[in-house]
Amino acid sequence: MKITTIIENSLGDNKELHNEHGLSFFIETPEGNILFDTGRTGDFIENAKALGIDLKKTDFLMLSHAHYDHCGGVRRFLEDFDVHPEFYVSENFFSNSDKYRSLDENKKSDFSADDVAYRYIGIDFNENFIKEKKLNINYVDKDMVKLGEKVYIFTNFERTYDFEGLNPNMKFKKENEYLLDRFEDEITLVVDTDKGLVILLGCSHPGLLNIIDTIAKRTGKNIYGIIGGTHLVEADEERIDKTIEKLKEKNIKIIGVSHCTGEKAVQSFKEKCDDFFVNCTGTILEV
Ligand SMILES: [Fe+2]
Ligand SMILES: [Fe+2]
Repeated sequence: MKITTIIENSLGDNKELHNEHGLSFFIETPEGNILFDTGRTGDFIENAKALGIDLKKTDFLMLSHAHYDHCGGVRRFLEDFDVHPEFYVSENFFSNSDKYRSLDENKKSDFSADDVAYRYIGIDFNENFIKEKKLNINYVDKDMVKLGEKVYIFTNFERTYDFEGLNPNMKFKKENEYLLDRFEDEITLVVDTDKGLVILLGCSHPGLLNIIDTIAKRTGKNIYGIIGGTHLVEADEERIDKTIEKLKEKNIKIIGVSHCTGEKAVQSFKEKCDDFFVNCTGTILEV
């Protein structure tokens, strides 16, 4: 299996590529090629070309959750290429896609408040757009869905770690209210390799440890690697320390996190984990 990080927040040494606040991976497996998220702007398309990836050979398009920085390239991808990959999102993806970040916690969370207090961070397409592009929509509606014999999507993560709480500023709009976003739309890709499971993460809004533990429990298998966004950017030092401590107990061999991990957490990972690297734009990993 080959995992290429097509776009991400940081560039590392790959100065010729574009970077942006967003995430996109191309995962080549014997059971097909998966485009996992599409970054924020569509610039992942130029990066893919520069990295020698033929996006026309995308068999599956999966979107980890309905945030702009993961789904912002979908329109350009489906407009620029005549492709019809199998489309995978959570069954809650479209119903939870009217997403906002509240900029002022003191504002009332209904429409009597001034909308200026909320910034839209959802998607710019709907279910009809995907249907018009003639993609077959597969809704992830159970704990685990198989893409192949060794490739799975997981969702419905158990919330066991109380320090991985929900962010009160993350909302979605439903009828007349901004509701707390529980990220029931988040899905995660898991590839079962000879060395153990490799987990690809979008933003890990339900909590990194909650996600990892749920997958370990459901499969009974050891985790070899985790790649992607951890959302530790919002965590305090105590949560970062507890997270790293728990990860070390699990003896995970590859920890390649980035995107919404944040400077503070990246620094702690560097200091405390031998198996850590910043998974920046252009990183290629073969497992
Ligand atoms: Fe993100
Ligand atoms: Fe996100």
